[in-house]
Amino acid sequence: MNVIDAMETCTAMRYFKPDPVPKEELEKLIYAATRASNPGNSQGWEFLIIDDPAIKGPVGETVLQGMAPFFANRPQGQDGVEERMLQGAEHLARTFAEVPAWIVCMARQVYPPHDPQESFMHSTIYPAAQNLIVAARELGIGTCFTTFPGAAEPQIRQLCNIPDDLHLFVYVAVGYPAKEFRPVRRKPVAEVLTWNRY
Ligand SMILES: Cc1cc2nc3c(=O)[nH]c(=O)nc-3n(C[C@H](O)[C@H](O)[C@H](O)COP(=O)(O)O)c2cc1C
Repeated sequence: MNVIDAMETCTAMRYFKPDPVPKEELEKLIYAATRASNPGNSQGWEFLIIDDPAIKGPVGETVLQGMAPFFANRPQGQDGVEERMLQGAEHLARTFAEVPAWIVCMARQVYPPHDPQESFMHSTIYPAAQNLIVAARELGIGTCFTTFPGAAEPQIRQLCNIPDDLHLFVYVAVGYPAKEFRPVRRKPVAEVLTWNRY
């Protein structure tokens, strides 16, 4: 699959088969992530893979407790597509512990070296995370960026013994897809591109 095809069909996957993703495949995703552009080549990223049920179980329960009020009052999607997305997001949160692996994308505040800024952590981690999901698509692995597990961050830090200077940004659900990859629905280029002057 060429990289444009992978990007075009790299939809957020929220339903997974129970099959584990082999360690070598997960490490390929981290390899792809760590090929990304980053500020001054400071490479202030780090990745934590969580596939241990003894961690996923309790974190999943905390996520569910935190999200229960939202699920109870969840608004209807504005159309079928949005409703399916909301249902998928709820399913993913409810099945946190059953997702084969979670990749926590983290960064350290290290750039620029003379005066490290928080904003550069975002600039570091998001290109890497995007590389990761496109590489996964090429390998036939589904992924979904999430932020909702942030509700359980203190517990994740404690269970996984995460050093204090690592900041947690995005949690990527990873597994073999139980639904089809579809073309992403995005604005046409003509709507977002200007040449030279507005
Ligand atoms: C930073 C970030 C956070 C996201 N958080 C969540 C999330 O918590 N739960 C979820 O189901 N999807 C999450 N998503 C996925 C988006 O909802 C999804 O990419 C968007 O709806 C477009 O859908 P598509 O990628 O399938 O085309 C997140 C995406 C990004 C970039």
